[in-house]
Amino acid sequence: MNNENSRVSPVEIDKNDFKEIGYRLIDTIADFYDTINTKPVTTGETPKQIQSVLGNNSLPVDGSSVSELFIRTSDLLLNHSLLNGHPKFFGYITSSPTQIGALADLLASVVNPNVGANILSPMATAIEKQTIQWLAEFIGVAPSYGGVLVSGGNMANLNAFLAARTAKAPKNMKEDGLANTECEMVFYCSRATHTWIDKAATLFGHGTKAIRRIPTDRNNKMNTEVLSKTISEDVENGKKPFLVIGNAGDVSTGVVDNLSEIAAICKTHNLWFHIDGAYGIPAAAVPEYKDLFKGIQEADSIAIDPHKWLYAPLEAGCTLVKNPQHLIDTYSAHPVYYNFDNSVDEPTLNYYEYGFQNSRGFRALKVWMALQQAGKNGYIKMINEDIDLSKLLFEEAQKHEELEAITQNLSIATLRYVPKHANEEKMNEANLNTLNEKLLNRLQQGGEVFLSNAVVEDKYCLRACIVNFRTSKKDIHEVIEIIVREGRKVCEN
Ligand SMILES: Cc1ncc(COP(=O)(O)O)c(C=O)c1O
Repeated sequence: MNNENSRVSPVEIDKNDFKEIGYRLIDTIADFYDTINTKPVTTGETPKQIQSVLGNNSLPVDGSSVSELFIRTSDLLLNHSLLNGHPKFFGYITSSPTQIGALADLLASVVNPNVGANILSPMATAIEKQTIQWLAEFIGVAPSYGGVLVSGGNMANLNAFLAARTAKAPKNMKEDGLANTECEMVFYCSRATHTWIDKAATLFGHGTKAIRRIPTDRNNKMNTEVLSKTISEDVENGKKPFLVIGNAGDVSTGVVDNLSEIAAICKTHNLWFHIDGAYGIPAAAVPEYKDLFKGIQEADSIAIDPHKWLYAPLEAGCTLVKNPQHLIDTYSAHPVYYNFDNSVDEPTLNYYEYGFQNSRGFRALKVWMALQQAGKNGYIKMINEDIDLSKLLFEEAQKHEELEAITQNLSIATLRYVPKHANEEKMNEANLNTLNEKLLNRLQQGGEVFLSNAVVEDKYCLRACIVNFRTSKKDIHEVIEIIVREGRKVCEN
């Protein structure tokens, strides 16, 4: 009932109820973490089965008890989800999420700052700024780099792409648009580049024909000789090259391109140098692997995803730009309905001017808190251990007579099952590909381990990407046994 001094709303929770429900939820979550390694990675339920567990109720007309809602929702999510926090989850590039990240997300939602404008989020904006400085420091680039947190790798790369175009296009591009630009703008990446590049070409109006997909060499790195030649040919043919993208950990096999050579080519031709480090660039912080990333200091922009190898819960990506003014030049607008620049003594940092989003959540908090919980050394240890585990998986596959180890880079290993009698049975590559595809499907449904796939030189491979601080050596040995056991079963059927 409302009275003049207070209002009763259907979503308000009474203080004592809030505590009781909250404590119970935390207890449930703590038990979940404690037993996660005993659960299946996935229940393998079909969408139909999931739908029947969820039910088909229509929109509730009246409200329900929050306490009961949490009991039911905890069951739905904790018992019917794929658990990427499981120690044997190695699929795609999705990490085990930090627990501190989960708590930070709760706190961020409570305060609910709109990190689009400083005036709406004074502390959150300062924390995001510090998080970005720490990310730059972590991977070893100059403190001049600034940027913005985004939802993930696609957005981090798209955000940088448009900044690159604004910087390198004719000055009137923003007003006149692409259609009125005199020569066709083209850009370069390796064949191993993630599909975000196709979205960029479509979204920003270049068309996918403007993408120059440079072949890779024997080590799967972008062939820089071909890159150089292709740029020169394009210039001769009246095109306007503006951007080269290097991979720092390609999505399939984790290869890091020769970044310093790409940087030099960009310098020669006055092109923007972007690094897609969404997955792999945190490994630049590990002393043993630093040299692999030589040239990152030259990058005009870098994509890095805390929700990959910094173990942040989804979603957290980041665009870093050597000169952040390029982001402002690209995205800033000053409509009359904003009163965001009212500081007299210092320029105001308003993140809506740094990317596509206007209203923005407080993604930075989970990253900022985890960076402090583990510290730089803690992260270096986790990343290094993930790489060692990936190497162990590769070596165990090399030793096993029914496995073929294919590639190992950063924390990604690819391998395939090859039955002992493959030669006698005259199994050709096509048969082996079919066998391994069936095996992958079986493993993904089975719930003991979750792998994904890669196609390397036409070989269909099982792919394990370890961005998982819960995985141990024991898990790796067990995964080898599971793959071989299930591989034999697929052959029998
Ligand atoms: C190298 C690389 N770039 C970009 C992406 C896209 O990231 P997201 O899925 O967070 O958009 C991925 C995803 O795996 C990736 O590995």
